[in-house]
Amino acid sequence: MSQLPVLISEAELNRQREIAALIAALPERPGSYHIVTYGCQMNAHDSEKLAGILESMGMREASDRLNADLVLFNTCCIRDNAERRALGNVVWLNELKKRKPGLMIGVCGCMVQQPLMAQRLIKRYPFVDLAFGTHNLHQLPAILYELLTQKKRVVSVSEQENLIAEGLPVRRQNDYKAFITIMYGCNNYCSYCIVPYVRGRERSRRMAEILTETEALIKSGTQEIMLLGQNVNSYGNGSDETFPQLLRALDAMGVPRIRFMTSHPKDLSDELIGVMAEGKHICNHLHLPVQSGSEVILQTMNRRYTRAEYLGRVKALRQAVPNIGLTTDFIVGFPGETEAQFEDTVSLVDAVGYDGAFTFIFSPRAGTKAASLEGQVSPEVAGERLRHLITAVEAGSSQAHRQMLGQMENVLVESVSKRDQNMVSGKGTRGITITLPGTPEDIGKIVPVKITSSAVNTLRAERT
Ligand code: SAH
Ligand code: SF4
Ligand code: F3S
Repeated sequence: MSQLPVLISEAELNRQREIAALIAALPERPGSYHIVTYGCQMNAHDSEKLAGILESMGMREASDRLNADLVLFNTCCIRDNAERRALGNVVWLNELKKRKPGLMIGVCGCMVQQPLMAQRLIKRYPFVDLAFGTHNLHQLPAILYELLTQKKRVVSVSEQENLIAEGLPVRRQNDYKAFITIMYGCNNYCSYCIVPYVRGRERSRRMAEILTETEALIKSGTQEIMLLGQNVNSYGNGSDETFPQLLRALDAMGVPRIRFMTSHPKDLSDELIGVMAEGKHICNHLHLPVQSGSEVILQTMNRRYTRAEYLGRVKALRQAVPNIGLTTDFIVGFPGETEAQFEDTVSLVDAVGYDGAFTFIFSPRAGTKAASLEGQVSPEVAGERLRHLITAVEAGSSQAHRQMLGQMENVLVESVSKRDQNMVSGKGTRGITITLPGTPEDIGKIVPVKITSSAVNTLRAERT
């Protein structure tokens, strides 16, 4: 059962704003910051909020970490390698600190929210100045003020898991493409996953807040919004607002493109599929993580759908939205996974035909159920399965791409090609990267094209 979310009070947010103003006036405050972000898009959006808060204290973004007075690592702990990468970089920064003694180093995000991690970090890495978790990002002004005025290292990790902060300053990476977090946390407890432990209970923002944010974005010319949540399909859980309602309302506002992620297959309702089919602005792409094609493994993962149910959802989606592109996530080498069960995953790939997939080797996470399951698969076997799976995914996606030859698409141009200055690239509504002739002026615009050729991960097109 979901816990009711608690909105952080205006009084508390004002207190933080006042502290931010005090910091802005301190002569010894850092003048510039650089944020290094790991993990998912929700973390990327948290970094946009951290940047907004830092700018409210008068700091400006440094071009890179070498030129910054404050470097903040916004970490991820979804897999062991994500954690190790972040820590490796923090250690590297110590070398820089030796040359630049005033440099401040902060670590925040999911890794820090794990039990006892902040204390361990501070003890093991004496050059880290501040550490804070995911639940008290809004307190950054108070945390930094303590560091600056009391000249002591600060650890601040809140255990309160049901908070929502509205009205934080945001400095977005892009003006044409914007993230909007619609819900926080997760209650699903998939047996391998650490997210429910580090992101807290599932809680949704009120629809009115999301619509207001979207309205402002539309006014400022945003072409695409990406709605974010660990399980957006269960948006509104415990209230009278639902995800299909939210999507309908956003679609009616006329933002050119709407995307959302991540969808959990168990909550993909017929109503939601209907809204996707009817919506004028909802992109014909769905990221629908399946994790495994094996009935038994799905059950041990606590995913709460069967293979047949997943395939049933795919069929319903394809009937309702004929040109829809599907992408997914897989975990191979889950404890106890046999060769035959892995083959079930490969056959599912063949049956669905994904546009693309993120493929991962199972990584045991402390505190999760799967970490202590019998039958851990050796890294060699898991690696072999991963390679095999990637080949299967690529065969499916090449076929999907070939089917798109000659079709019309609309590309939201994001960058100039590194290889050819006369080419630009961006994503079509179906989510596939498309390269087309163009100039830097096209960035941030939606350009109609016709697909002319295909490769594994990209399509080429001509302007129409
Ligand atoms: N909320 C999303 C995704 C969360 S994390 C969902 O439910 O699908 C993104 C992906 O990381 C997951 O889909 C899963 O494939 C992978 N992942 C999560 N925990 C993992 C672990 N312990 N080992 C390997 N991969 C993992
Ligand atoms: Fe993790 Fe499962 Fe929640 Fe996704 S739905 S965040 S995989 S527990
Ligand atoms: Fe990583 Fe946290 Fe996202 S663990 S995947 S950054 S929610």
